[in-house]
Amino acid sequence: MRPIQMVDLKQQYHKIKSEVDEAVIGVLESSAFINGKPVQDFASNLSAYLGIKHVIPCANGTDALQIAMMALDLQPGDEVITPSFTYIATTEVIALLRLTPVFVEVDPKTFCMDPIALEKVITPKTKAIVPVHLYGHAAPMDEIMAIAKKYKLAVMEDNAQAIGGDYISADGVKRKTGTIGDIGTTSFFPSKNLGGYGDGGAIFTNNDDLAAKMKMIANHGQSKRYYHDMVGCNSRLDTLQAAVLNIKLKYLDKYIAARQAVATGYDKAFNNHPKITVPFSAAYSSHVFHQYTLLLEGVNRNGLNEFLAKHGIPSMIYYPVPGHRQKMFEHFNTASIPMPVTDWLTERVISLPIHTEMDNEQLNFITTKVLEYINQ
Ligand SMILES: Cc1ncc(COP(=O)(O)O)c(C=O)c1O
Repeated sequence: MRPIQMVDLKQQYHKIKSEVDEAVIGVLESSAFINGKPVQDFASNLSAYLGIKHVIPCANGTDALQIAMMALDLQPGDEVITPSFTYIATTEVIALLRLTPVFVEVDPKTFCMDPIALEKVITPKTKAIVPVHLYGHAAPMDEIMAIAKKYKLAVMEDNAQAIGGDYISADGVKRKTGTIGDIGTTSFFPSKNLGGYGDGGAIFTNNDDLAAKMKMIANHGQSKRYYHDMVGCNSRLDTLQAAVLNIKLKYLDKYIAARQAVATGYDKAFNNHPKITVPFSAAYSSHVFHQYTLLLEGVNRNGLNEFLAKHGIPSMIYYPVPGHRQKMFEHFNTASIPMPVTDWLTERVISLPIHTEMDNEQLNFITTKVLEYINQ
């Protein structure tokens, strides 16, 4: 059996090696390392794939969130609502921009923002909502957009974990996650569903003014060279990464299908087990399984993690400390806010290996060992 990894990028690379090598050598030969043609090609290919007007490539998913938030003209002290149950990047940029993160509960089934809880934390200082499509499952965008409209709030979707996912609105319209709010952001971190061979990120919008502004912000606040109209930053997607991503984008749907097949295999093994809840897929969301995350009840999670590691199976806790309990937010006093669902989930989730290259032998070995430990 091949060694089991959370993500097998080497095997995946070998399947597209000739295409990738040719594209990378093409960049080396052109020596257009910054803003070379593959960057513009990738932006237009991704916007066609997502069905969105503008894609602005940038250096990573954290910058994408920061640039998007800078473009919304928020003022220090303005409140931005986001789940506590997410990767720290989502919430960190809010504080970095001297805005106030307001944590909201998630739904215990989808792990995404709970719209009922969302409406309760809105105050006159609230300016934006940042739903996260966690683990590859979409947040309930119909409800979130309706609340945003009612209170005139901006919506930025953190789509780092769900690129390629479909969201089906109540009216039957199917759209890609990240294209429903005012702005969507993503990460091309190597392990992401669409991952480069280094860092990368992008911002999406249908709004021409926001797009122009975000392009400027990502480029030192300039639209004309050496004329800087606003304070920005330097955030570019490397040409080399764009060349790789252009190739991998062609395979994204196939990669998602491969992840979904692994998830189906896991589901079959774990479904109906009294101590295991398998990932939930709402009818409105195509789960793209960036992570395959189980909820355990009455299981020693650390014990399982160690038992699996002993048998060469990695497993991860995403995330062991929720945002509202992070030291970096101590001055906001967020740890005192009751977040029972988030705390409950934090204590019970465990993510198993899932990637495009997993074979049945590996899958069977993982499910056998998980059940062996849980049933002992
Ligand atoms: C939900 C979420 N948001 C933001 C990011 C930040 O992306 P990056 O690591 O490219 O900065 C990540 C990726 O790690 C993420 O999972």
